[in-house]
Amino acid sequence: MSAEKIQIFDTTLRDGEQVPGCKLNKKQKLEIAAKLDDLGVDVIEAGFPISSPGDFDAVNAISKLVKNATVCGLTRANKKDIEAAARALEYAVKPRIHTGIGTSDSHIIHKFNSNKEAIIERAVEAVAYAKSFVDDVEFYAEDAGRTDNAYLAKVCEEVIKAGATVLNIPDTTGYCLPYEYGNKIKYLKDNVPGIENVIISCHNHNDLGLATANAVAGAINGARQIECTINGIGERAGNTALEEIVMVFKQHKELNLYTDIDTRMLTELSQFTSETMGMIVQPNKAIVGSNAFAHSSGIHQDGVIKNRETYEIIDPAEVGVNESSIILTARSGRSALAYRLKNIGFEVTKNELDVLYEQFLEVADAKKEVVKEDLERLMYQFNQTVETKFA
Ligand code: KIV
Ligand code: ZN
Repeated sequence: MSAEKIQIFDTTLRDGEQVPGCKLNKKQKLEIAAKLDDLGVDVIEAGFPISSPGDFDAVNAISKLVKNATVCGLTRANKKDIEAAARALEYAVKPRIHTGIGTSDSHIIHKFNSNKEAIIERAVEAVAYAKSFVDDVEFYAEDAGRTDNAYLAKVCEEVIKAGATVLNIPDTTGYCLPYEYGNKIKYLKDNVPGIENVIISCHNHNDLGLATANAVAGAINGARQIECTINGIGERAGNTALEEIVMVFKQHKELNLYTDIDTRMLTELSQFTSETMGMIVQPNKAIVGSNAFAHSSGIHQDGVIKNRETYEIIDPAEVGVNESSIILTARSGRSALAYRLKNIGFEVTKNELDVLYEQFLEVADAKKEVVKEDLERLMYQFNQTVETKFA
């Protein structure tokens, strides 16, 4: 069976940009959009046009700029929002309107003071209205993660009839467990008439640290679009991280799923986004954190030096990192010291290494990390001692 494609829907500029402190100006949004287009994402959610004139303007400018990806604008289920999105997207080669409404009891009762039938009516009206402007209409059932499956299936059936091309099933609060979210997607696949004609999309939040796992579960059960952000930024604990989900499919060929992302650009784009948004990437972040390919314990270092795959499942070059790094600390062993010395031009014998290692440990115990300059000093002092001995 040939592998099936997973569409990557990037929402860094919408769900990501909603984060306090991450606000971008128009120029910055355009720079990120251009890089996302080069990266190979299928859809760029460029913003929420009705939310401010600045966001409208940015979505409009991104629509003119982007040549490959579909450009999408978010709306609530009302005419004004949809009209604003349609105007903002007027220059897009491939425009998509993303409209929707909350479907969980909590949203229906507390947010809308409404009932299930009325919510379906609003959803259908919104999709039909969006469809009068563009062919490609994505519907989101906000808080689908906590929505009863039978009702969710009914909502999906009706919006498909109204013309939705993509069904977004957001776990808005990041509540679901992977098996639960996977079963929800399977339930919809098995119970919604017409679902075979649309794409099911996963939009997962990371409140329990499960956003990527839930998106994987969704894809295994038939979803073919995943909504994600660079570095996993997004509301509260964030969204599925683009770099993680893409590498999951690349590493696990048995899933028979692939994306069109040029993974060699991931590290550079992560750093660019982090700097532009002023949002640091935690060092232990999967794939793009500064420690993702760094080894510091003696046992691991020895293994990696003998064969990289002993402790690394990804070749760093695949995500645009030159090489794995061997960090010298008081937990490092002789092979790591010899390796780093060799890298800066010092080949030492076994006996020399024994002596140097004791001196190295003294420095390492006094410092967090032993760096190149420390090694050069160590070698200088070592050579001086040897010269004095034989003078
Ligand atoms: O988390 C969510 O439900 C959303 C929707 C607006 C798609 O971001
Ligand atoms: Zn979201």
